[in-house]
Amino acid sequence: MQSFALAVNNQSQAPIGVFDSGIGGLSILKALQFHLPKERFVYYADSKYAPYGEKTDTFIQERCLAIVDKLHYQHSIKALVVACNTATAVAIVQLRLKYPSMPIIGIEPALKPAAIHTRTNKVIVMATRGTLSSAKFQDLLHTVQTHSPILNIVCHACDGLAGIIEQHWFDLNHSKIHQNIQQHLAAVNINVNSINNNYDTLVLGCTHYPLVLNVWRQYVPASFCIVDNGIAVAQQLQRRLEGLNLLNESGIAVQPIYLSSALTDKMNINKMFANI
Ligand code: DGL
Repeated sequence: MQSFALAVNNQSQAPIGVFDSGIGGLSILKALQFHLPKERFVYYADSKYAPYGEKTDTFIQERCLAIVDKLHYQHSIKALVVACNTATAVAIVQLRLKYPSMPIIGIEPALKPAAIHTRTNKVIVMATRGTLSSAKFQDLLHTVQTHSPILNIVCHACDGLAGIIEQHWFDLNHSKIHQNIQQHLAAVNINVNSINNNYDTLVLGCTHYPLVLNVWRQYVPASFCIVDNGIAVAQQLQRRLEGLNLLNESGIAVQPIYLSSALTDKMNINKMFANI
């Protein structure tokens, strides 16, 4: 009995794995750390293969399985957060099949919160091409539209943006990020003065995009509501851990372990990721 209690207790102290194609998932990691400060996290950035958005489903699935194998065998994670909309859309089914007893939380573009926030019923979704064309996203869109037929949802694939953010991780105010965001907003007729066309809510459906929230803010009307699902993911993770008695009640806040497929120098990874 005593050893069983010890085993349960030990498992609750194991870290939570979080991964993304690159640095984007750090926007989710921040929400997780804020919401669950007693938990330990291991973050994996698959930067060598980023961005995922324009790769094949098979390639993304293989990468995701390899990353989760590593997190499972080398770090004994107790739960996993797929902090990437594209990887969730394309690979979460395979991950859950391979690890049926591990709580695995994915992320999807925040269409449901957007439906609640919009006052004009006009919403724009910005995401990668991979996310928008996935069956999972199309199902979500269908569900939200069926529930709220009055909603006018425009989806736009921000080709190139995740890659540009990834390349300029050291200067998230870089002019290329500004230019790219302005171009994508222009493609859906949004600029800082575009109050007339009645769109009032912007969904950032790729975890890279909230890392440059300040840039988005500069090019949309001040009244715009910009939404993402970071906090919702943290709340869902908390519910799952509570349900499985896996919450770490006695932990203290520690720096996450950062890993990357592109960088092997731990000092640099820590310096880089902790500052984003
Ligand atoms: N950050 C990712 C997402 O949420 C991936 C972007 C990409 O690698 O294309 O979709």
